[in-house]
Amino acid sequence: KTEHLTIEKPDVQDSGIQRAAAILRDGGLVAIPTETVYGLAADALNPQAVGRIFEAKGRPSDNPLIVHIAHLEHITNVARTVPESADKLAKAFWPGPLTMVLPKASGIPDKTSGGLDTVGIRLPSHPVARAVIEAAGVPLAAPSANLSGSPSPTTASHVLADMEGRIEAVLDGGPCGVGVESTVLSLAGKRPLLLRPGGVTPEQIESVIGPIDIHPAVYHALEQGQKAESPGMKYKHYAPHTKVMVVKGDGQSFARYVNSQIGKVGALCFDEDLPHLHVPAVSYGHMGQPDTQAQGLFDALRRLDGLDADVVYARYPDVDGMGLAVYNRLMRAAAFEVIEL
Ligand code: TXA
Ligand code: MG
Repeated sequence: KTEHLTIEKPDVQDSGIQRAAAILRDGGLVAIPTETVYGLAADALNPQAVGRIFEAKGRPSDNPLIVHIAHLEHITNVARTVPESADKLAKAFWPGPLTMVLPKASGIPDKTSGGLDTVGIRLPSHPVARAVIEAAGVPLAAPSANLSGSPSPTTASHVLADMEGRIEAVLDGGPCGVGVESTVLSLAGKRPLLLRPGGVTPEQIESVIGPIDIHPAVYHALEQGQKAESPGMKYKHYAPHTKVMVVKGDGQSFARYVNSQIGKVGALCFDEDLPHLHVPAVSYGHMGQPDTQAQGLFDALRRLDGLDADVVYARYPDVDGMGLAVYNRLMRAAAFEVIEL
Protein backbone atom coordinates (compact mmCIF):
# COMPACT_ATOMS: atom_id res chain seq x y z
CA LYS A 1 0.00 0.00 0.00
CA THR A 2 1.36 3.40 -0.97
CA GLU A 3 1.01 6.16 1.65
CA HIS A 4 -0.53 9.40 0.39
CA LEU A 5 1.30 12.17 2.28
CA THR A 6 0.09 15.75 2.31
CA ILE A 7 1.91 18.96 3.15
CA GLU A 8 0.89 21.81 5.45
CA LYS A 9 3.93 23.98 4.87
CA PRO A 10 6.90 23.39 2.55
CA ASP A 11 9.57 23.29 5.23
CA VAL A 12 11.78 20.76 6.95
CA GLN A 13 9.58 20.64 10.09
CA ASP A 14 6.40 19.67 8.20
CA SER A 15 5.14 16.23 9.27
CA GLY A 16 4.54 14.99 5.71
CA ILE A 17 8.05 16.05 4.72
CA GLN A 18 9.50 14.49 7.89
CA ARG A 19 7.72 11.23 7.12
CA ALA A 20 9.00 11.25 3.52
CA ALA A 21 12.55 11.91 4.73
CA ALA A 22 12.37 9.05 7.25
CA ILE A 23 11.24 6.59 4.55
CA LEU A 24 14.06 7.78 2.27
CA ARG A 25 16.71 7.42 4.99
CA ASP A 26 15.47 3.85 5.55
CA GLY A 27 16.10 3.00 1.90
CA GLY A 28 12.47 3.43 0.78
CA LEU A 29 10.96 5.09 -2.30
CA VAL A 30 8.92 8.30 -2.18
CA ALA A 31 7.49 10.20 -5.15
CA ILE A 32 8.03 13.92 -4.62
CA PRO A 33 6.85 17.02 -6.47
CA THR A 34 9.40 19.14 -8.34
CA GLU A 35 8.82 22.20 -10.53
CA THR A 36 9.14 20.00 -13.66
CA VAL A 37 7.44 16.64 -13.00
CA TYR A 38 7.07 14.29 -10.01
CA GLY A 39 10.28 12.42 -9.24
CA LEU A 40 10.64 8.92 -7.80
CA ALA A 41 13.20 9.56 -5.08
CA ALA A 42 15.63 7.33 -3.19
CA ASP A 43 18.88 7.90 -1.31
CA ALA A 44 21.36 8.40 -4.18
CA LEU A 45 24.20 6.98 -2.07
CA ASN A 46 22.39 3.71 -1.25
CA PRO A 47 22.74 1.23 -4.16
CA GLN A 48 20.01 -1.04 -2.80
CA ALA A 49 17.50 1.79 -2.55
CA VAL A 50 18.47 2.99 -6.03
CA GLY A 51 18.06 -0.55 -7.36
CA ARG A 52 14.46 -0.49 -6.20
CA ILE A 53 13.80 2.60 -8.36
CA PHE A 54 14.73 0.61 -11.48
CA GLU A 55 12.48 -2.26 -10.35
CA ALA A 56 9.48 -0.05 -9.54
CA LYS A 57 9.68 1.76 -12.90
CA GLY A 58 10.66 -1.23 -15.02
CA ARG A 59 13.62 0.90 -16.12
CA PRO A 60 16.63 -0.56 -17.97
CA SER A 61 19.57 -0.56 -15.56
CA ASP A 62 21.90 1.28 -18.00
CA ASN A 63 19.69 4.40 -17.94
CA PRO A 64 21.31 6.73 -15.36
CA LEU A 65 19.44 8.72 -12.71
CA ILE A 66 19.65 12.44 -11.95
CA VAL A 67 21.01 13.28 -8.51
CA HIS A 68 19.15 16.11 -6.75
CA ILE A 69 20.79 18.42 -4.22
CA ALA A 70 19.40 21.28 -2.10
CA HIS A 71 22.46 23.55 -1.94
CA LEU A 72 24.88 24.68 -4.62
CA GLU A 73 27.88 23.87 -2.42
CA HIS A 74 26.86 20.20 -2.39
CA ILE A 75 27.72 19.90 -6.09
CA THR A 76 31.27 18.92 -5.12
CA ASN A 77 29.94 15.87 -3.21
CA VAL A 78 28.42 14.58 -6.44
CA ALA A 79 30.76 15.82 -9.19
CA ARG A 80 34.49 15.06 -9.31
CA THR A 81 35.28 18.32 -11.10
CA VAL A 82 33.17 21.39 -11.74
CA PRO A 83 34.17 23.31 -14.88
CA GLU A 84 33.76 27.07 -14.98
CA SER A 85 30.84 26.75 -17.41
CA ALA A 86 28.95 24.62 -14.85
CA ASP A 87 29.59 27.18 -12.18
CA LYS A 88 28.25 29.99 -14.38
CA LEU A 89 25.16 28.01 -15.35
CA ALA A 90 24.46 27.02 -11.75
CA LYS A 91 24.59 30.66 -10.72
CA ALA A 92 22.29 31.64 -13.58
CA PHE A 93 19.68 28.84 -13.51
CA TRP A 94 19.79 27.04 -10.16
CA PRO A 95 17.57 26.43 -8.39
CA GLY A 96 15.61 25.47 -11.49
CA PRO A 97 14.93 23.02 -14.33
CA LEU A 98 18.52 22.47 -15.54
CA THR A 99 20.42 19.18 -15.15
CA MET A 100 24.17 19.27 -15.78
CA VAL A 101 26.10 16.10 -16.66
CA LEU A 102 29.56 16.20 -15.05
CA PRO A 103 32.31 13.71 -14.17
CA LYS A 104 31.03 11.66 -11.25
CA ALA A 105 32.50 11.77 -7.75
CA SER A 106 33.68 8.45 -6.31
CA GLY A 107 30.93 8.42 -3.65
CA ILE A 108 28.18 8.08 -6.27
CA PRO A 109 27.37 4.37 -6.76
CA ASP A 110 27.53 2.88 -10.27
CA LYS A 111 23.88 1.85 -9.86
CA THR A 112 22.93 5.54 -9.70
CA SER A 113 24.95 6.54 -12.77
CA GLY A 114 23.95 3.50 -14.82
CA GLY A 115 27.57 2.43 -14.90
CA LEU A 116 28.73 5.71 -16.49
CA ASP A 117 31.66 7.79 -15.28
CA THR A 118 29.41 10.89 -15.39
CA VAL A 119 26.42 11.97 -13.36
CA GLY A 120 23.44 14.27 -13.97
CA ILE A 121 23.00 16.85 -11.19
CA ARG A 122 20.08 19.15 -10.52
CA LEU A 123 19.09 21.64 -7.83
CA PRO A 124 15.30 21.88 -8.08
CA SER A 125 13.42 25.10 -7.30
CA HIS A 126 10.29 23.44 -5.87
CA PRO A 127 10.25 24.29 -2.13
CA VAL A 128 8.86 20.85 -1.22
CA ALA A 129 11.57 19.01 -3.18
CA ARG A 130 14.26 21.09 -1.52
CA ALA A 131 12.79 20.59 1.96
CA VAL A 132 12.68 16.81 1.43
CA ILE A 133 16.32 16.67 0.27
CA GLU A 134 17.34 18.78 3.22
CA ALA A 135 15.33 16.73 5.74
CA ALA A 136 16.67 13.46 4.31
CA GLY A 137 20.22 14.79 4.63
CA VAL A 138 21.41 12.93 1.53
CA PRO A 139 21.32 13.67 -2.21
CA LEU A 140 18.29 12.07 -3.84
CA ALA A 141 18.35 10.08 -7.06
CA ALA A 142 15.07 10.72 -8.85
CA PRO A 143 13.87 9.84 -12.33
CA SER A 144 10.36 10.84 -13.35
CA ALA A 145 7.84 8.85 -11.25
CA ASN A 146 6.10 7.06 -14.14
CA LEU A 147 6.36 3.48 -15.37
CA SER A 148 9.16 3.35 -17.94
CA GLY A 149 7.76 4.41 -21.32
CA SER A 150 4.65 6.21 -20.01
CA PRO A 151 4.11 9.97 -19.96
CA SER A 152 5.81 11.62 -16.97
CA PRO A 153 3.52 12.44 -14.00
CA THR A 154 2.60 16.04 -13.24
CA THR A 155 0.15 15.29 -10.39
CA ALA A 156 0.09 12.90 -7.43
CA SER A 157 -2.79 11.02 -9.05
CA HIS A 158 -0.71 10.40 -12.21
CA VAL A 159 1.95 8.94 -9.90
CA LEU A 160 -0.56 6.66 -8.17
CA ALA A 161 -2.02 5.50 -11.50
CA ASP A 162 1.43 4.03 -12.32
CA MET A 163 3.00 3.36 -8.93
CA GLU A 164 0.27 2.41 -6.42
CA GLY A 165 1.57 -0.53 -4.38
CA ARG A 166 5.06 -0.30 -5.92
CA ILE A 167 6.48 2.52 -3.75
CA GLU A 168 6.24 3.44 -0.06
CA ALA A 169 4.68 6.91 -0.45
CA VAL A 170 3.74 9.85 -2.63
CA LEU A 171 4.10 13.35 -1.25
CA ASP A 172 1.30 15.45 -2.75
CA GLY A 173 2.42 18.96 -3.66
CA GLY A 174 -0.29 19.68 -6.23
CA PRO A 175 0.31 20.00 -9.99
CA CYS A 176 3.84 20.76 -11.28
CA GLY A 177 4.47 24.24 -12.70
CA VAL A 178 6.71 23.62 -15.71
CA GLY A 179 5.14 20.33 -16.77
CA VAL A 180 8.04 18.85 -18.80
CA GLU A 181 11.32 17.50 -17.44
CA SER A 182 14.49 19.50 -16.91
CA THR A 183 16.91 20.45 -19.65
CA VAL A 184 19.82 17.97 -19.69
CA LEU A 185 23.14 19.52 -20.74
CA SER A 186 26.38 17.56 -20.81
CA LEU A 187 29.49 19.47 -19.78
CA ALA A 188 31.57 16.31 -19.61
CA GLY A 189 32.73 16.37 -23.25
CA LYS A 190 34.77 18.79 -25.37
CA ARG A 191 31.82 21.07 -26.14
CA PRO A 192 28.60 21.58 -24.19
CA LEU A 193 25.95 19.25 -25.63
CA LEU A 194 22.20 19.55 -25.14
CA LEU A 195 20.85 16.03 -24.57
CA ARG A 196 17.25 16.88 -23.70
CA PRO A 197 15.41 20.20 -24.11
CA GLY A 198 13.42 21.35 -21.08
CA GLY A 199 12.49 24.27 -18.86
CA VAL A 200 15.73 26.19 -19.55
CA THR A 201 15.99 26.95 -23.29
CA PRO A 202 19.10 26.63 -25.51
CA GLU A 203 18.98 30.40 -26.05
CA GLN A 204 19.09 31.01 -22.29
CA ILE A 205 22.06 28.65 -21.89
CA GLU A 206 23.94 30.21 -24.82
CA SER A 207 23.46 33.66 -23.33
CA VAL A 208 25.59 32.51 -20.38
CA ILE A 209 28.24 30.16 -21.85
CA GLY A 210 28.15 30.81 -25.60
CA PRO A 211 27.36 28.32 -28.39
CA ILE A 212 26.30 24.78 -27.49
CA ASP A 213 25.70 21.71 -29.64
CA ILE A 214 22.27 20.12 -29.81
CA HIS A 215 22.15 16.34 -30.06
CA PRO A 216 20.36 15.25 -33.29
CA ALA A 217 18.07 12.97 -31.24
CA VAL A 218 16.36 16.13 -29.93
CA TYR A 219 14.85 16.61 -33.40
CA HIS A 220 14.89 13.20 -35.04
CA ALA A 221 14.51 9.54 -34.17
CA LEU A 222 17.86 8.06 -33.20
CA GLU A 223 19.19 6.27 -36.28
CA GLN A 224 20.72 2.80 -36.33
CA GLY A 225 24.31 2.95 -35.17
CA GLN A 226 24.02 6.55 -33.92
CA LYS A 227 25.46 7.06 -30.45
CA ALA A 228 22.95 7.57 -27.63
CA GLU A 229 25.00 10.04 -25.56
CA SER A 230 22.12 9.92 -23.15
CA PRO A 231 20.94 6.34 -22.63
CA GLY A 232 17.36 7.60 -22.25
CA MET A 233 17.35 8.48 -25.97
CA LYS A 234 17.29 4.82 -26.98
CA TYR A 235 14.11 3.95 -25.23
CA LYS A 236 10.51 4.45 -26.21
CA HIS A 237 9.02 7.34 -24.31
CA TYR A 238 5.94 9.28 -23.33
CA ALA A 239 3.70 6.94 -25.27
CA PRO A 240 0.01 6.57 -24.53
CA HIS A 241 -1.51 3.22 -25.59
CA THR A 242 -3.32 4.95 -28.44
CA LYS A 243 -1.37 5.60 -31.64
CA VAL A 244 -0.47 9.27 -32.05
CA MET A 245 0.46 11.05 -35.29
CA VAL A 246 1.57 14.66 -35.45
CA VAL A 247 -0.05 16.83 -38.11
CA LYS A 248 1.75 19.91 -39.39
CA GLY A 249 -0.48 22.68 -40.69
CA ASP A 250 -2.52 25.67 -39.52
CA GLY A 251 -5.61 25.34 -37.32
CA GLN A 252 -8.07 25.39 -40.20
CA SER A 253 -6.37 22.70 -42.27
CA PHE A 254 -5.84 20.63 -39.12
CA ALA A 255 -9.56 20.68 -38.31
CA ARG A 256 -10.50 19.94 -41.92
CA TYR A 257 -8.07 17.01 -42.06
CA VAL A 258 -9.14 15.49 -38.75
CA ASN A 259 -12.87 15.95 -39.37
CA SER A 260 -12.62 14.19 -42.73
CA GLN A 261 -11.01 11.02 -41.38
CA ILE A 262 -13.16 7.90 -41.15
CA GLY A 263 -13.03 5.37 -38.32
CA LYS A 264 -12.40 5.93 -34.62
CA VAL A 265 -10.16 8.99 -34.56
CA GLY A 266 -9.40 11.58 -31.92
CA ALA A 267 -7.47 14.84 -31.68
CA LEU A 268 -4.81 16.33 -29.42
CA CYS A 269 -5.06 20.03 -30.05
CA PHE A 270 -5.01 23.56 -28.68
CA ASP A 271 -7.92 25.08 -26.73
CA GLU A 272 -8.62 27.30 -29.74
CA ASP A 273 -9.15 24.21 -31.99
CA LEU A 274 -11.79 22.54 -29.79
CA PRO A 275 -14.87 24.33 -31.20
CA HIS A 276 -13.90 23.38 -34.78
CA LEU A 277 -13.39 19.65 -34.22
CA HIS A 278 -16.15 17.06 -34.71
CA VAL A 279 -14.18 14.19 -33.15
CA PRO A 280 -13.35 13.47 -29.47
CA ALA A 281 -10.50 15.78 -28.54
CA VAL A 282 -8.26 16.85 -25.67
CA SER A 283 -6.36 20.10 -25.52
CA TYR A 284 -2.76 20.42 -24.38
CA GLY A 285 -2.62 24.20 -24.03
CA HIS A 286 -3.10 27.50 -25.81
CA MET A 287 -2.02 28.19 -29.38
CA GLY A 288 1.15 30.33 -29.45
CA GLN A 289 1.83 29.76 -25.73
CA PRO A 290 4.46 27.03 -25.35
CA ASP A 291 4.51 27.42 -21.55
CA THR A 292 0.88 26.33 -21.32
CA GLN A 293 1.55 23.53 -23.82
CA ALA A 294 4.39 22.25 -21.62
CA GLN A 295 2.15 22.37 -18.56
CA GLY A 296 -0.68 20.48 -20.22
CA LEU A 297 1.06 17.95 -22.46
CA PHE A 298 1.63 14.97 -20.16
CA ASP A 299 -1.84 15.13 -18.62
CA ALA A 300 -3.33 15.35 -22.13
CA LEU A 301 -1.27 12.34 -23.28
CA ARG A 302 -2.62 10.34 -20.34
CA ARG A 303 -6.21 11.38 -21.15
CA LEU A 304 -5.91 10.31 -24.81
CA ASP A 305 -6.44 6.70 -23.89
CA GLY A 306 -9.92 7.63 -22.65
CA LEU A 307 -11.00 8.92 -26.08
CA ASP A 308 -11.69 5.43 -27.42
CA ALA A 309 -9.86 6.26 -30.64
CA ASP A 310 -7.67 4.00 -32.79
CA VAL A 311 -5.51 6.94 -33.83
CA VAL A 312 -5.14 10.43 -32.41
CA TYR A 313 -3.98 13.33 -34.60
CA ALA A 314 -1.90 15.89 -32.73
CA ARG A 315 -1.54 19.55 -33.55
CA TYR A 316 2.09 20.53 -34.22
CA PRO A 317 3.46 22.61 -31.31
CA ASP A 318 5.27 25.95 -31.44
CA VAL A 319 8.96 25.05 -31.64
CA ASP A 320 10.62 28.21 -30.29
CA GLY A 321 11.71 28.75 -26.68
CA MET A 322 10.01 26.26 -24.33
CA GLY A 323 8.34 24.88 -27.45
CA LEU A 324 11.40 22.79 -28.29
CA ALA A 325 10.84 20.74 -25.13
CA VAL A 326 7.17 20.25 -26.02
CA TYR A 327 8.02 19.36 -29.64
CA ASN A 328 10.59 16.79 -28.48
CA ARG A 329 8.13 15.04 -26.10
CA LEU A 330 5.24 15.06 -28.57
CA MET A 331 7.39 13.76 -31.44
CA ARG A 332 8.61 10.90 -29.28
CA ALA A 333 5.05 10.10 -28.18
CA ALA A 334 4.25 9.87 -31.91
CA ALA A 335 7.42 7.84 -32.70
CA PHE A 336 8.39 10.80 -34.96
CA GLU A 337 5.48 10.21 -37.37
CA VAL A 338 4.48 13.50 -38.99
CA ILE A 339 1.86 14.24 -41.62
CA GLU A 340 2.54 17.48 -43.50
CA LEU A 341 -0.59 19.17 -44.83
O1 TXA B 1 12.95 17.24 -14.47
C1 TXA B 1 13.60 16.21 -14.34
O2 TXA B 1 14.75 16.09 -14.77
C2 TXA B 1 12.96 15.04 -13.57
C3 TXA B 1 12.74 15.49 -12.13
C4 TXA B 1 12.21 14.40 -11.25
O3 TXA B 1 13.93 16.04 -11.63
N1 TXA B 1 13.74 13.86 -13.68
C5 TXA B 1 13.86 13.15 -14.85
O4 TXA B 1 14.65 12.02 -14.76
O5 TXA B 1 13.30 13.48 -15.87
P1 TXA B 1 14.60 10.85 -15.85
O6 TXA B 1 15.45 9.79 -15.27
O7 TXA B 1 13.20 10.52 -16.18
O8 TXA B 1 15.34 11.45 -17.09
C6 TXA B 1 16.74 11.72 -17.03
C7 TXA B 1 17.34 11.70 -18.39
C8 TXA B 1 17.39 10.30 -18.98
O9 TXA B 1 17.09 10.38 -20.36
C9 TXA B 1 18.84 9.89 -18.77
O10 TXA B 1 19.27 8.98 -19.77
C10 TXA B 1 19.58 11.22 -18.83
O11 TXA B 1 18.70 12.16 -18.27
N2 TXA B 1 20.80 11.19 -18.01
C11 TXA B 1 20.91 11.08 -16.68
N3 TXA B 1 22.19 11.01 -16.29
C12 TXA B 1 22.94 11.06 -17.41
C13 TXA B 1 24.34 11.00 -17.70
N4 TXA B 1 25.26 10.86 -16.74
N5 TXA B 1 24.74 11.10 -19.00
C14 TXA B 1 23.82 11.24 -19.99
N6 TXA B 1 22.49 11.29 -19.78
C15 TXA B 1 22.05 11.19 -18.53
MG1 MG C 1 11.67 9.92 -17.36
